[in-house]
Amino acid sequence: MLGLDLGTTFSTAALVVNGKFHYAVDERGEACIPSVVHFPRSGPPIVGTEADRLRVIDPENTVWAIKRVIGRGLDTPQVRRLQAGAVFKLVGRGTDEVMVRTRSGDHSASEVASILLRDMRERAQHRFGRTISKAVVTVPVLAPTAVRTNMVKLGRMAGLEVLRVISEPVAGALARGIAGAGDTGEPRLIFDFGGGTLDIAVVQHVEDRVKVLAASGDDSLGGDDFDTAFARFIASHVWGHHQFDVTKDVILSDTIHRTCEKVKRALSASPSARYFIPEALGVRGRKWDIELVVTREMMSSVWEELISRAVQVTRETLDASGVDPARLSVVSLIGGTTFVPQVREAVARAFGRPLDVEADPQTAVARGASFLGAFPLLVR
Ligand SMILES: Nc1ncnc2c1ncn2[C@@H]1O[C@H](COP(=O)(O)OP(=O)(O)OP(=O)(O)O)[C@@H](O)[C@H]1O
Ligand SMILES: [Mg+2]
Repeated sequence: MLGLDLGTTFSTAALVVNGKFHYAVDERGEACIPSVVHFPRSGPPIVGTEADRLRVIDPENTVWAIKRVIGRGLDTPQVRRLQAGAVFKLVGRGTDEVMVRTRSGDHSASEVASILLRDMRERAQHRFGRTISKAVVTVPVLAPTAVRTNMVKLGRMAGLEVLRVISEPVAGALARGIAGAGDTGEPRLIFDFGGGTLDIAVVQHVEDRVKVLAASGDDSLGGDDFDTAFARFIASHVWGHHQFDVTKDVILSDTIHRTCEKVKRALSASPSARYFIPEALGVRGRKWDIELVVTREMMSSVWEELISRAVQVTRETLDASGVDPARLSVVSLIGGTTFVPQVREAVARAFGRPLDVEADPQTAVARGASFLGAFPLLVR
């Protein structure tokens, strides 16, 4: 049974084969497949890395971050926020689910999401050489009941029978099976910081059962927001040097945002990085580059507010579980945003517990979902 993690920025499908985790992979051999769908002039939608590449040249017909708006109407904060940063057009009526207007017509958010699920199913079938018709899928802790129920419908649209819908950090708790390294049977805190949402769960393994002592999160806080804050910083740098307002140009804004994402990753590996977009600005009759050196220190103040919000939500969830922080065996870090050194440091400082850092934090949720598919434990 396939474990499916439909992520805001990346999606992963995992399967337990002979007691080991395996993944559906894309053309690059990667298990984290960009949650991007491109609608071409003719032929079926294009999904993943290729779609992400086409986002640069045809942003109107390339849809990303659809997970943020599944089941939401046009006039909701989630849809307004996505529209503010996106070149593709969102349309809709009243409380009906929002649609994306593309050259191949209007597609509901659910339809776009089901294209992503179908793509993962097909990649998995290709990888494992068999028909796959059943899945365990994951949703953010705060997903409304309607979205949870909707996952069954989305699965059906993608040719999958969804047997179980589970919260992302709870699945993440099972990323190494029932007794993952460092699991002493004491409560554990799972800190799942992805591209679009922060999801927290306090869990305890009791025999063959996973007890969820508390779960909560923030469904509008993720790595994307780090990129947006970074992009604002770049916009004000450019304004300071050229009195040029980059926010007026949607295509340039998108390029800046994407470059921020890349440079953010570089900053996880080294204390400083070069931010460079050649010939980005047409000012005073010539083309100017955007070029500067950014450091972790500079980004600390840009991301400070986001990080302290994340710590605050975690603290509240831990409080709600009634577990004294000193009793936590570990804090497990999953989700791509936990690569950010400032995030790790803040979590370590706030809770004073050992961090259990996943080698591959972005596939943890899918792995846990596939584990539950293979070993249907009780989760409560
Ligand atoms: N090395 C890195 N340093 C900093 N951020 C990173 C790194 N690698 C990935 N990320 C960020 O992690 C995020 C993606 O993480 P992940 O794949 O866990 O999220 P997701 O599952 O798509 O989103 P969500 O769970 O919120 O729906 C992106 O914002 C990406 O920029
Ligand atoms: Mg995720």
